[in-house]
Amino acid sequence: MTVPFFRSPWQVPANATGLGAAFAEILESGQYILGQRVRGFEQALSARLETPVVALNSGTDALVLALRLLNLEPGDEVVLPSYTFFACFEAVVRTGAVPVLCDSQAHDFVCGEPEVLACITPRTRAVMAVPLFGDASAIPAIAQSCRAMGVPLIEDAAQALGAQVHVEGQGLLQAGTLGDVGTLSFYPTKTLGAPGDAGALTSRHAHFVDRAMSLRNHGLHAGCHSEVGYNSRMDEFQAAALAQGLSQLDTWLSQRKSIARRYLAGMGRLPGIALPHHHDGHAWNYFVLRCAQRDRLRAMLAQEGVQTRIYYSDPIHRQPAYLKCFPEVPLPHAEAHAQQALALPIFPGMTDGEVGRVIEAVVLAAGRP
Ligand SMILES: Cc1ncc(COP(=O)(O)O)c(C=O)c1O
Repeated sequence: MTVPFFRSPWQVPANATGLGAAFAEILESGQYILGQRVRGFEQALSARLETPVVALNSGTDALVLALRLLNLEPGDEVVLPSYTFFACFEAVVRTGAVPVLCDSQAHDFVCGEPEVLACITPRTRAVMAVPLFGDASAIPAIAQSCRAMGVPLIEDAAQALGAQVHVEGQGLLQAGTLGDVGTLSFYPTKTLGAPGDAGALTSRHAHFVDRAMSLRNHGLHAGCHSEVGYNSRMDEFQAAALAQGLSQLDTWLSQRKSIARRYLAGMGRLPGIALPHHHDGHAWNYFVLRCAQRDRLRAMLAQEGVQTRIYYSDPIHRQPAYLKCFPEVPLPHAEAHAQQALALPIFPGMTDGEVGRVIEAVVLAAGRP
């Protein structure tokens, strides 16, 4: 049996039911971009998050717009993790600000509050925090510190739609709503994946929402171009699929959670393997373990038919694009994690047999001399 790393819910005919008809209606309507389906999806997602939402073409542009909203000046610093997807760094560089990369925790991929605080200087104008792999547990402490310092927080929840965290005095909050601006990606492998590219921005600040609506459409506001913006619009086809997916999201999240539970129970205490930390409210977008003999483990799993991926083989501060423009920084935890990270298949619709096969293959590989 081959276990794929990922299978989109849209590949399963039952999930795609109705989508064909919706697509046909859109084709017939002639309204393909920023129409009623985009507005409908914005309203549905905003009701779920209890925060206004601006639908966009990608999570990358959501980050670019989020940073634009903060009116950064050249030389302003933005603190962000080194161990994250490259788009976070790209967005900062594209605004002309200086990226200041912080390390991960020693035993976790995620940057915590101490790692962020270690990078704050008098020039810090924003923090970008990333609930990586669907784990938002470090965000409340970072948000509290940012509020205390008066530094705006962008929460890049590209991998964490559906994650929840408990915040003292506020109860259970949704990932993507803890910062001044939140960003989301609906790239196909995310917890809510589109059959294409799409993203969104969230904010409880009305002036940010209004400006983001204008920035996504070339700065158009009340019939004129009030500033230079972008083409970051969502199309109706993605919105139709996302609205349908949103109604399934809780089912998909609970399937991810139960796969993660089986992995944690079935692979506990294997020699040489560190499993991801379990937190209530984890969205389990990715299940990433750490193994000193990662490449060997990966090859063994491939032999057993289990596909895996590496998130991320190099942290940002080791990427050529970073090193061309910015000084070398020692971030030992991020570097160690990059040598050891291995993502196992986890996706809604994964069969019990597939989950069992992955566990068997990992246990077998861990037991081999
Ligand atoms: C943490 C993170 N930020 C940003 C992005 C960018 O999102 P998109 O691919 O929708 O542009 C991604 C997506 O892969 C991501 O994982």
